[in-house]
Amino acid sequence: MKSIKTLRFGLIGTGMMGKEFASAVMRWSHLLDMDIKPEIVSVCSEHITEEKARWYTEGLKTVHQVTRNWKEVIDSSEVDALYIAVPNHLHEEMYKGAVRAGKHLMGEKPFGIDRAANLAIMKSITRNPDVFVRCACQWHFAPAIQRLCSIIEQGRLGRIIEVEAGFLHSSDLNPEKPINWKRVVKYNGEYGCMGDLGMHILAIPIRAGWYPRNVRAVLSDIVKERPDGKGGRACCETWDNAVLLCETEADTGEVFPMTLKTHRIAPGEKNTWYLNVYGTKTSVKVSTKQINTINILEYSGGDQAWQVIDTGYETAYPTISAPLFEFGGIDSIFQMWAAFLYEFSVGKPKSLFSGCTTPDEAVWSHELFTAALESADKKKTVEVTEPRREGR
Ligand SMILES: NC(=O)c1ccc[n+]([C@@H]2O[C@H](COP(=O)([O-])OP(=O)(O)OC[C@H]3O[C@@H](n4cnc5c(N)ncnc54)[C@H](O)[C@@H]3O)[C@@H](O)[C@H]2O)c1
Repeated sequence: MKSIKTLRFGLIGTGMMGKEFASAVMRWSHLLDMDIKPEIVSVCSEHITEEKARWYTEGLKTVHQVTRNWKEVIDSSEVDALYIAVPNHLHEEMYKGAVRAGKHLMGEKPFGIDRAANLAIMKSITRNPDVFVRCACQWHFAPAIQRLCSIIEQGRLGRIIEVEAGFLHSSDLNPEKPINWKRVVKYNGEYGCMGDLGMHILAIPIRAGWYPRNVRAVLSDIVKERPDGKGGRACCETWDNAVLLCETEADTGEVFPMTLKTHRIAPGEKNTWYLNVYGTKTSVKVSTKQINTINILEYSGGDQAWQVIDTGYETAYPTISAPLFEFGGIDSIFQMWAAFLYEFSVGKPKSLFSGCTTPDEAVWSHELFTAALESADKKKTVEVTEPRREGR
């Protein structure tokens, strides 16, 4: 029997995403052919309750430290790697602390509350080249979306005509939904919905080498106040919706329009991530609304007809699940963690698009969202600065 390596994790932030990671770890044996497994040994949250601590310690017998002090986790000699899933204003201090302590890191998007925070994080990463750092973005791991990625990788698109990508939520349509940190600039950042949802839709375009060169952004602040959860009202100051039209240049020199939408108020949409790519030879459409379906139009003259193809559990990282079973959104998170550990262990992802988002790719999102804020403010098109490699 081959030996399995263990990567000992500290988890900082035990909220929604912290629990998703713990759940992925709890079912690690669902994966086949992995020579490495994560083990959560330390759990940290500022206000951890006894009930929540029990959820972690009962589900994960490997946890031997529960603390409210994140520095104890970063300093622990028992911890090799960290997953930090905390509000955006804490990314800079904690990610820098983790990297400086020599811990491998899965950070959450937007990877710094703003461009300055991201720059500071990137400087720490450059100074500590031996740590393995990635940014959590999971949607591209769905098999239908991986299939779209292989069409890009195989060069089957022809000349790219246009790209549309978006991430649409709708629960904020309810003006009585109480405010939380994601609707407060101090904690979520000036980017608002772009910082929240934008890296998710940029992950594939940036990996594909499709770089936004300029942007005209229209940002909407639709619901201006919300219940504060304590019987009063609070100002809801973050951008609800963003539409970004980008003149985009591929590595090949082709220039095409790319429209990006990050909406928290898109009536009828629960959690719809989509990517439509139109090429002169092949056009492809995928959406998490039908996560097991890919639409393909191949053109070589004659009729133009969309094929609608069902995909199953044909994942980049094989599991015990039969390939004909349907794949779900949460399985994308599981695949993302498999990708993180696989790349950490083997040194490279299985294929171009089956790796996790890199810190350098997250930098692009900051350059774009910073330009988008200026564009919306000045009501004009703004150049997007190409990220510099050195010093970052
Ligand atoms: N990849 C995704 O699909 C996805 C989805 C949602 C959120 N996120 C990102 O994940 C991160 C966390 O979001 P969430 O939805 O899990 O938030 P959440 O509010 O559910 O959880 C945040 C956690 O951080 C803890 N925390 C806050 N301050 C702390 C401190 N000083 N020390 C230690 N712990 C502290 C809180 O106690 C809580 O457990 C954010 O960066 C967000 O942008 C990613």
